[in-house]
Amino acid sequence: MKLKKTDYYKLLVRSVVVVSTISEKGISNAAPFSFSSPLSFNPPLYGFSCSQEHHTWRNIKENEEFVVNIVGKDLGPLMHVLEQMLPYEVSEIEKAGLTEERSKKVSPPRIKEAIAWIECKLESFKEAGDHMWIVGSVLEVDVKDEFWSEVIDVEKASPLCHISGTFFATEMKMKKYERAMK
Ligand SMILES: Cc1cc2nc3c(=O)[nH]c(=O)nc-3n(C[C@H](O)[C@H](O)[C@H](O)COP(=O)(O)O)c2cc1C
Repeated sequence: MKLKKTDYYKLLVRSVVVVSTISEKGISNAAPFSFSSPLSFNPPLYGFSCSQEHHTWRNIKENEEFVVNIVGKDLGPLMHVLEQMLPYEVSEIEKAGLTEERSKKVSPPRIKEAIAWIECKLESFKEAGDHMWIVGSVLEVDVKDEFWSEVIDVEKASPLCHISGTFFATEMKMKKYERAMK
C-alpha cells in the first residue's frame, strides 16, 4: 500500500521518554517525546526533536539541562495528562500524580516512577523542519536494579512505545541473535 509521505513515522515504533526540565523560577516541567535517539557512544550524546512552541525547549534554552526519564507501560494512561499544554509555571509531574526526585548532576528533577534516567547538558541544537533537534551530552545514567540485566530487561520493565496518535505498543520479548561484531 502506498502511504502519504507525511505518514512515514507511523511505520516506526519508538520508545517514549518523558523529558523533565526546569523554568527560570525553578518550576519543573515534563512532557512525553518519541522522536528521540542515542547519537554517539563516545562521547555519549542523546538527541530528541522538540517543537519550538514547547515549554521544554524554552526551559532548555534557559538553563541548558534536561533529564530523559525512560518510562514503562504503567505511565501509558498518564500520557494525556503529561502532554497537556499547562500554564508555563504549572508542573505536569505533580498534575499527573508522579513524584519528583532530585537529579544527581542537573537541576531538573527526575520522575521517581520511571525505569531509568539519563541526565543531560545541552550540547547543540539545530532546526529540523517544524521541530528543533536538541542534542545533550550525557552526564549521568541510572536504572532501577530490577530492570537491569546486562541491558534493560524489557520483559520486566515493559517500556512504553509510541506509534502515532492514540496507538502505542507495550509488550516485548527479549531475543538474542548472533552478531558479526561482538
Ligand atoms: C507519546 C507522545 C509522544 C510525543 N512525542 C513528541 C515529540 O517527539 N516531539 C514533540 O515536539 N512533541 C511530542 N509530543 C507532544 C508533547 O509532549 C506535548 O505537545 C507537550 O504538551 C509539550 O509539553 P511542554 O510544552 O511542557 O514542553 C508527544 C506526545 C506524546 C503523548
